[in-house]
Amino acid sequence: MSDPAGAPAPPPRPAPTLRSHQWYGADGVRSFSHRARTRQLGYLPEEHLGRPVIAVLNTWSDINPCHVHLRDRAQAVKRGVWQAGGFPLEFPVATLSETFQKPTPMLYRNLLAMETEELLRSYPVDGAVLMGGCDKSTPALLMGAATVDLPAVFVPAGPMLPGHWRDQILGSGTDMWRYWDDHRAGLIGDDELAELEHGLARSPGTCMTMGTAATLTAAAEALGVTLPGASSIPAVDSGHERMAAACGRRIVALVREDLRPSAILTRPAYEDAVATVLALGGSTNAVIHLIAMAGRSGVPLTLDDFDRIARRVPVLADLRPGGRFLMEDFHFAGGLPAFLTRIADVLHLDRPTVAGPTLRDQLARARVHDDEVIRPRGRPVADEGGVAVLRGNLCPDGAVIKHIAAEPRLLRHTGPAVVFPDYRTLRATIDDPSLGITADHVLVLQNAGPLGGPGMPEYGMLPIPAQLLERGVRDMVRLSDARMSGTSYGACVLHIAPESAVGGPLALVRDGDPITLDVPARRLTLEVPEDELARRRAAWRPPPERFQRGYGALYSEQVTQADTGCDFAFLARPGHTPDPYTG
Ligand code: FES
Repeated sequence: MSDPAGAPAPPPRPAPTLRSHQWYGADGVRSFSHRARTRQLGYLPEEHLGRPVIAVLNTWSDINPCHVHLRDRAQAVKRGVWQAGGFPLEFPVATLSETFQKPTPMLYRNLLAMETEELLRSYPVDGAVLMGGCDKSTPALLMGAATVDLPAVFVPAGPMLPGHWRDQILGSGTDMWRYWDDHRAGLIGDDELAELEHGLARSPGTCMTMGTAATLTAAAEALGVTLPGASSIPAVDSGHERMAAACGRRIVALVREDLRPSAILTRPAYEDAVATVLALGGSTNAVIHLIAMAGRSGVPLTLDDFDRIARRVPVLADLRPGGRFLMEDFHFAGGLPAFLTRIADVLHLDRPTVAGPTLRDQLARARVHDDEVIRPRGRPVADEGGVAVLRGNLCPDGAVIKHIAAEPRLLRHTGPAVVFPDYRTLRATIDDPSLGITADHVLVLQNAGPLGGPGMPEYGMLPIPAQLLERGVRDMVRLSDARMSGTSYGACVLHIAPESAVGGPLALVRDGDPITLDVPARRLTLEVPEDELARRRAAWRPPPERFQRGYGALYSEQVTQADTGCDFAFLARPGHTPDPYTG
């Protein structure tokens, strides 16, 4: 029986060059079944056969305030796909909510990367639009897409509107930490805190400081997997919907051009993303994620690359948490294309992106409209990139510090350690005056790394003891194998590798041990004789196994250390994965 709307046989067949042809266009019972089932979905054959099938991977969820608008925005993407002659199909995928998912969405970044890879491979997909932005969702989606290597465009969720409280402009995250410390110090009361709850996050969208979300979406734009300027468009701006529709149109063209991530995510692209992140004064989390993403692209990227590039680029974005402005200011100052013109001399301008022939073409018309937000080279926020890589006997495989967000007096500091064996002990005892903690002590948190956390929770901005907050102390040297929120700040040494849970030197630190941080020399030193450390090492025992089953057990078996990106070993290694049709 023909469709009531009238669909005369024979139906058109997909172009044989399309991957989806394997599902729909071949003769045989499977294609017959797939066409029948697509009618069951409500489509006539001429609506979809012969068109590139575009998967719209959507991380929308009711629980994720950073992505809550993406359900609507997917409609704009699909509109664009239809306009360009494609066939859009939306796939709901895991949402990684930095706010709500515990112990940390970092535990699940690789799960979303696996889901992305396997969905794209196992369904009749010719290209993909990836919708994300809250911290780990950006690297997860791109890791999966890079691995399966089908044409892909990333739609950043966009920053939320600036926060407001009384006469203050608030930055999400950053001002939450700051005012919480003020509350602990007794400077503001419960009423003020209740008012702040109303003003910290005013709209859907990602954190509007240069936190992890803004850093990673800017990195995605610098890599060339978004449309130009996409990463800073506010989530609720009408321009965001227009950008989403444009991504829908563009992905269809990318499928026809057969422009795949492997042509875009090259070593020059990753070097440019590193330079961008450092010149933005971006989140330390980008170090881990870019290393993991590069690994999926077959590009070796190391901590030393970050340190080398950091010495070549100044910090030019005056954005919180280190600076004054927010993402909406950055957007109206010209956004990332304008920003990249200021570091164009260190970029590889002749590489391809999803938007057009080269990065150089995209920057040709870009202009900076506000020299306070995006500083000229002669007036940088900091002379060197915002992240320093440390080495030393306490971090043989490296550690990082966002030194531009620390009090300068602490960048060369020696002090006695106060050791917390885990985060629970830290929370329970940090305000105990009997510990006798002074502003010169070095706070040390163990067992908060990839395995110990698990998932490297963002515990790295260890709280300042309340009695020191009351005396006006706002920064101390703090060390851990954890990560730190991109909206956090302070002299926090992070990502110490190897971590303490696998017996790294951090596990050997005892109360009172002198520790020297020397950021200019890029050194972190435990000032304890080697023979004493050898005795402690021989006596060290690993913490008990945390997961005996389930995803946690898989994670524990497979996760790599921070310096190699915390990917799963079995996902990061090279090798062939058969396509379901072509093998
Ligand atoms: Fe989602 Fe900050 S909590 S981006």
